[in-house]
Amino acid sequence: MDATSRRYLMCRPTYFAVEYAINPWMDPSAPVDADLAVRQWEALRGVYLDLGHTVEEIAPLPGLPDMVFAANGATVVDGRVLAVQFRDPQRADEAPAYAHWFARAGFEVHEAKHVNEGEGDLLLAGDLLLAGTGFRTTTAAHGRAQEIFGRPTVTLQLVDPRFYHLDTALCVLDERTVAYLPAAFSPGSQAALRRLFPDAVLATPADAEVLGLNAVSDGRHVVLPVQATGLAAALRDRGYETIGVDLSELRKAGGGPKCCTLEVRS
Ligand code: ARG
Repeated sequence: MDATSRRYLMCRPTYFAVEYAINPWMDPSAPVDADLAVRQWEALRGVYLDLGHTVEEIAPLPGLPDMVFAANGATVVDGRVLAVQFRDPQRADEAPAYAHWFARAGFEVHEAKHVNEGEGDLLLAGDLLLAGTGFRTTTAAHGRAQEIFGRPTVTLQLVDPRFYHLDTALCVLDERTVAYLPAAFSPGSQAALRRLFPDAVLATPADAEVLGLNAVSDGRHVVLPVQATGLAAALRDRGYETIGVDLSELRKAGGGPKCCTLEVRS
């Protein structure tokens, strides 16, 4: 299995907090250790650097506590950027900040036009764009993504509110393989996933409940929550190298390693 070097965009959780609840993980009355969140995020960033990946940073903005979840900032394929439009007003101002970062970096940026939460719901798997819907990103956005990227786009219906973004229910391991939690998808989407990925790694509810599927793979190394021990063992059985990270504080907002990581495909 070959790792390929990746370019990631991340956002330091300087202003991270749980101040509102837009998914079932978020409880604004529960304590969050903001300093620990920063240290955990720095450790994740350090793992990518140690693996030889490039990490760029977008400046965090005050008043946008979820901006650390860079995966929601855009979708980038072949150097083309599809901007985002958040479902919830609390996150709306993140969209222009990310679009501006890409425009300044010289990318061609296409406007969202529909609710679309970026790589939270749009995951490139080989030539296919796997596209989640049900909670955030709309099917109209899937059509737009196919127009912009010219990749066959497969709509997948999410049904469990705890797994509200595709990247909480499915992880792309390499060009041919994914891992996912079947119960997070509608029966028809489960059948479609079985046809597309007969050799997929099937995660257990216990793995998904610690956001184990919110993992980042470079084709060989899979960075995932350290608590997802069953999934890590299943991935090692398949020949992947697993690297556990503890993002306990960010999980209180419903995010894990993948949520913090936007892949920039030039
Ligand atoms: N609190 C954020 C929200 O509900 C978490 C986003 C997690 N991001 C992700 N790519 N799953 O929008």
